Amino acid sequence: MNEKVLSVNNLVISFKTDNGLVRAVRDVSFELNKGETLCIVGESGSGKSVTSKAIMGILAKNAIIENGSIIYDGENLLEVSEEEFYKIRGHKIGMIFQDPLSSLNPIVKIGKQITEAMLINSDKLKLMYEDLISKDLIAYKNVIAKRNIEINNAKKQFDLFASKAKDKTLSKEAKDKLLVEIKAKKQELNQVILELKKECQEKIKPLKEQLDITKKEAKLKVKAYKRDIIAKKNNDIAPLKAKLKLANGKEKQAIKKEMAQIKLETTNKLKITKAEAKRRAIAIMKEVGIPEPERRFKQFPFEFSGGMRQRIVIAIALTANPEILICDEPTTALDVTIQAQILELINRIKEERHLSCIFITHDLGVVANMADRIAVMYAGKIVEYGTAEEVFFDPRHPYTWALLSSIPDVDSKEKLDAIPGTPPNMIYPPKGDAFAERSKYAMKIDFMMEPPFFKITDTHYAATWLLDSRAPKVEMPKIVSERIRLSLKGENDHE
Ligand SMILES: Nc1ncnc2c1ncn2[C@@H]1O[C@H](COP(=O)(O)OP(=O)(O)OP(=O)(O)O)[C@@H](O)[C@H]1O
Ligand SMILES: [Mg+2]
Repeated sequence: MNEKVLSVNNLVISFKTDNGLVRAVRDVSFELNKGETLCIVGESGSGKSVTSKAIMGILAKNAIIENGSIIYDGENLLEVSEEEFYKIRGHKIGMIFQDPLSSLNPIVKIGKQITEAMLINSDKLKLMYEDLISKDLIAYKNVIAKRNIEINNAKKQFDLFASKAKDKTLSKEAKDKLLVEIKAKKQELNQVILELKKECQEKIKPLKEQLDITKKEAKLKVKAYKRDIIAKKNNDIAPLKAKLKLANGKEKQAIKKEMAQIKLETTNKLKITKAEAKRRAIAIMKEVGIPEPERRFKQFPFEFSGGMRQRIVIAIALTANPEILICDEPTTALDVTIQAQILELINRIKEERHLSCIFITHDLGVVANMADRIAVMYAGKIVEYGTAEEVFFDPRHPYTWALLSSIPDVDSKEKLDAIPGTPPNMIYPPKGDAFAERSKYAMKIDFMMEPPFFKITDTHYAATWLLDSRAPKVEMPKIVSERIRLSLKGENDHE
């Protein structure tokens, strides 16, 4: 049975711009299972980055989350408070971006950038305290965060409505009518806000009481823990002190060394020291394949090649020991050989650390050796969703066919068929199947009605009217079927 680590449900995200609402993500749902790599593939502008930014909680300010939930560890990430989000973002979900330079500070040495994150959270007692209270704190903060989100959403909806008044083409009559409506909506809004606040007050009271109790208990626990550590240190050191008085020169040296060691161990139990952070950083640099990490630790980003920089970015993401790694086109800026090395690295780290991975790319060819499952996105929607095998060997959506046709040939390296046309303007997403305008397989209905997801197998779905029983039978492009035939033949030949 697959264990689900993350699920995105019916996510709808738009951006407010001067030209209108950009419908960036339109009802996207998917799941990430433990230990798997899910690849999200689609052309520029299809909504891949916006989806992953929503998971990370780093959407631009003009984003409106209109609908949906992102469930991680039982929490809806769209509802948790900023503080808790930061914790999850920093600790449990790591992200690697396309351009390694933009995620590194050019004037800070590599070593410092890797250790920084560890040292910010260096007080182990504080971490222990936070861990002890986190569950109750989240419950408490969530109620407030949820209220704030609801208030914000109501305000945004109102703003959106009120912005209609800016329309210069309105007649005076229409405008007056609109202004009356806006006034009424404003009153409605104030009422809604008042009620939300009241509701929140009631819910929050028992949670706050519980939190205060938990905080008190946690303080006592941390205090006791610290006391035990110090007591153990004193216990261990006392006999050495006695010995020291009677010892001769050589013995003294050894005893002092032993005492220093005990002190160091005690410190390490209480906090992450700079030395420990450095040791860990160098170990992670080694893990991601940086040669001579001790020397490299003291260098600046410009002294690293593009591939090495991307390795550092991966190292930084790993310092927090994440459970999920989101890679947003991590190899697009790199040349082909380096690209292959970074993909191999991500694959290896994923295996060794049992990570679950979301890998974003516009090139299906890149993910052939990585993906367990693939979600193909077009114009803010997932149009096909299946295991890698299903999407590569039994693709059903014309857009997936187009993507497969455009994978460069391994031998000739030449791109076969560029996808004709351009993706739609997302302020006015097309009705029906958004890809219809560019598809030679489009039928009349594709321009009128949005296709539902047709189930092909328990794991394979595609949103295309071609799968409707009334649709004419069509063949996928020759170039795709030929490739599939050849690679299947190749596989059989190997057996
Ligand atoms: N802050 C913003 N304001 C307005 N529109 C935005 C904003 N951020 C993203 N968009 C729009 O949302 C849509 C989806 O963008 P997104 O960055 O997710 O695309 P993508 O699939 O990651 O593409 P690429 O392959 O180019 O990275 C695009 O139309 C983009 O212009
Ligand atoms: Mg992107």
